[in-house]
Amino acid sequence: MITVLGSINMDLVTVTSKDPLLGETVMGNHFSTIPGGKGANQAVAAARLGAEVQLIGRIGDDVFGQQYLVHLKEQGVNTKYVKPVTGEKTGIASITVYKGDNKIIVVPGANKCVGPEVVESHSEDILKSDWLLLQMEIPLQGVEKALEIAHKGGVKTILNPAPYHEIPKSWIEMATYLTPNEFEANQIFNLYKNDHDNLAQLKKKIIITKGSEGIVIFENDEEVVIPAMPVDAIDTTGAGDTFSGALVVGLSEGKSLKEACYFAARAASLSVTKLGAQSGMPYRKEVNEFGKTHRDSGGDIL
Ligand code: ATP
Ligand code: RIB
Repeated sequence: MITVLGSINMDLVTVTSKDPLLGETVMGNHFSTIPGGKGANQAVAAARLGAEVQLIGRIGDDVFGQQYLVHLKEQGVNTKYVKPVTGEKTGIASITVYKGDNKIIVVPGANKCVGPEVVESHSEDILKSDWLLLQMEIPLQGVEKALEIAHKGGVKTILNPAPYHEIPKSWIEMATYLTPNEFEANQIFNLYKNDHDNLAQLKKKIIITKGSEGIVIFENDEEVVIPAMPVDAIDTTGAGDTFSGALVVGLSEGKSLKEACYFAARAASLSVTKLGAQSGMPYRKEVNEFGKTHRDSGGDIL
């Protein structure tokens, strides 16, 4: 079983053909309210690929929170540990999509409440799982507590270090794998640049997503590139979340790291073909079909 601990946001998405300058007003093309938030996105990505997934997180006592709970249930995510916080609003992300890429402002709302005490109260729920998937859109002390609980209890972890904040070395030691994007990876490598022993350890754990260039892992200190699939990108929001969600599914099924990366890269590439973080997240059948028609995506890896 996979546990995802993290944020739940309603994404307020505006598509525009003109990115306004500061102080300028422009007319947008389209507006949608779409479920998002890194934690919920990763939970939905994993559930759509057929995994048993429970999400630990907090919503507000508002309409967005109620809508989100219904949505998560429809997606097959176990919501037993998604709880409303009285007097708080559900987190939101104000997203502008321009030329297929995005700018995001997050207002955390109830996600702020997922601190160390709340995480501690979910110790047993975390310890029931085989894998724990974490991001950094909840209080960092909450992330640290979860890593400690999982590490002590022998639960394997994937830390998606986004949005980036400087992370202590102890987190890298405790995590089984890290899934930064290119920017986040550069920040992490910077921490280790003069520390050769730790750099060697980091290279065994780090899986770097590089947008349309695909994924980089290290084998025997050498970079190995796993290609992204050629697709028409409509909106890349949530591509990294789809990758982390699919990766944990692959690993939990016993795939090797490389096989799991091929599987997850294929899922992530499919996810950018629709507007919204979760709208394009593929179901298992779609990932498998895509593998058959795109042999360079690791066609035999289902
Ligand atoms: P986001 O913050 O928008 O969720 P990210 O920066 O965390 O994304 P990326 O590295 O942009 O993550 O993308 C994750 C993975 O998604 C890539 O490694 C790749 O497999 C796939 N992907 C992203 N963009 C594209 C694209 N334009 N074409 C094909 N695949 C893509
Ligand atoms: O990773 C994408 C997510 O980041 C969006 O869904 C938005 O909610 C922000 O949290």
